[in-house]
Amino acid sequence: MFPKVSKITEIRQNTSTAYLIENPNQIVDERLTQADKEYISFRLEKDGDCTIQKWPHLLYFKKIEKHKDKYLGFEAARIAGAKVIGELKISKIEQIQLINLCTENYTAAFLEGLLLSTYNFDKYLKEKETFHLKEVFIQDKISDPEIEELLALAEAVFAARNLVNEPVSYLTAPRFSEEIEKLGEQAGFSVEVFNKRKIESLKMGGLLAVNRGSIDPPTFNILEWKPQNAKNKQPIVLVGKGIVFDTGGLSLKPTANSMDYMKTDMAGGAVVASTIFAIAKNKLPVHVVGLVPATDNRPDGNAYVPGDVITMFDGTTVEVRNTDAEGRLILADALSYAKKYKPMLVIDYATLTGAADMIAGAYASVVMGNAPEHLENLKSIGFETFERIIEVPLWEEYAKALKSNIADLNNLGVREAQSTIAGKFLEHFTDYKWIHIDSAGMSYLKEADAYRPAGATGSGTRLLYHFIKASFCR
Ligand code: BES
Ligand code: MN
Ligand code: ZN
Repeated sequence: MFPKVSKITEIRQNTSTAYLIENPNQIVDERLTQADKEYISFRLEKDGDCTIQKWPHLLYFKKIEKHKDKYLGFEAARIAGAKVIGELKISKIEQIQLINLCTENYTAAFLEGLLLSTYNFDKYLKEKETFHLKEVFIQDKISDPEIEELLALAEAVFAARNLVNEPVSYLTAPRFSEEIEKLGEQAGFSVEVFNKRKIESLKMGGLLAVNRGSIDPPTFNILEWKPQNAKNKQPIVLVGKGIVFDTGGLSLKPTANSMDYMKTDMAGGAVVASTIFAIAKNKLPVHVVGLVPATDNRPDGNAYVPGDVITMFDGTTVEVRNTDAEGRLILADALSYAKKYKPMLVIDYATLTGAADMIAGAYASVVMGNAPEHLENLKSIGFETFERIIEVPLWEEYAKALKSNIADLNNLGVREAQSTIAGKFLEHFTDYKWIHIDSAGMSYLKEADAYRPAGATGSGTRLLYHFIKASFCR
């Protein structure tokens, strides 16, 4: 699936080549005429990059400015990787050599952007994509284990994208569980799936209420990677929202620009599975558990209705005021369940509120929690992976809107600060160090953006993987 990555010690002639440079004087390629060089300088000045055809090869040049913020340079290298794939596709060229002539070592980021751009979801197309990049030559500025790690991480991102791109006509909750089990077999982590009867016996009232309008049973998925050399005594628990389709339930969503994207509402669950996939594939010395409650949310004769009072897994009663605020109900049960692991940290990842999209759009996730010591690190990993986060506070005042006269909580609150209110709802079910990530704007794009394709982005996998690696594997 991925191209072969071959390391080189000397620049190959007769091979298409992509260069990252700081200034045009660095261009030495023998194939270029004086006129080519003048043209390249002109284009680099004007657009920052330039492609020259030397049929049957091509040459690509990208100038990376010295950035005050280092991470912007690395992101420019990833974007250049995406651009290279676009150029190769046009000319159907299947081999490329990546050369970094900048002072900063952008080799890994360049390769990462390139690999992440080779994705396409053609499962349902009669005419499949025919272009496949066969081989990448890369300078000896990156170690073999680093290359392996990048490939495993890209594979994990693609697994998340595939799951999120699947419509509910295929990916029901039980099917989602089967797909998670397959990932477990491939990477070597364990998966336990609770069926409806087990979920009933556990009295997971949030998950069961949301599932009542569905003809498919819910599942509760437990993923675990527990290597003998784990550095942590208490596990890190990752919780992911697994709504395989969100119609809103009886509080039905309008179709246009709303319900029509809601096959993506299990992106959090997909990110949890793909992160543990990457951790297991790369054999990180860390004990992680993933919890993914899964169901669709639909109206039906037996669907839960506004006004219902439901009893959650931990005994909390909730007055349902809006059946479209379903994510917090299934996550609450998973967050309560997480207590039994005595976790050192719990991170939940969810497409929880449209308000998070309003706050941050496609360029950040909205984050809150009670673990400032970890948040600082998560923020800087956010810049490094370019899966950035914006923090909002969990001040007590925001919980007022969640009061109810007839139950312990209501599930709606008010419109204003809805991302925070949803966070306050979740907070009620936690008694440990916890970070909540609302990725509503990040998980799915209407149009491609560099190495993030249109449709599912798989965003969050690289953030969580690198955060866990940097924070808990030393
Ligand atoms: N899955 C949606 C949130 C969402 C919106 C994700 C847009 C991605 C893009 C969630 O279940 C939802 O419906 N939230 C409501 C909550 C409201 C009823 C309190 C929302 O944000 O409008
Ligand atoms: Mn909803
Ligand atoms: Zn939802």
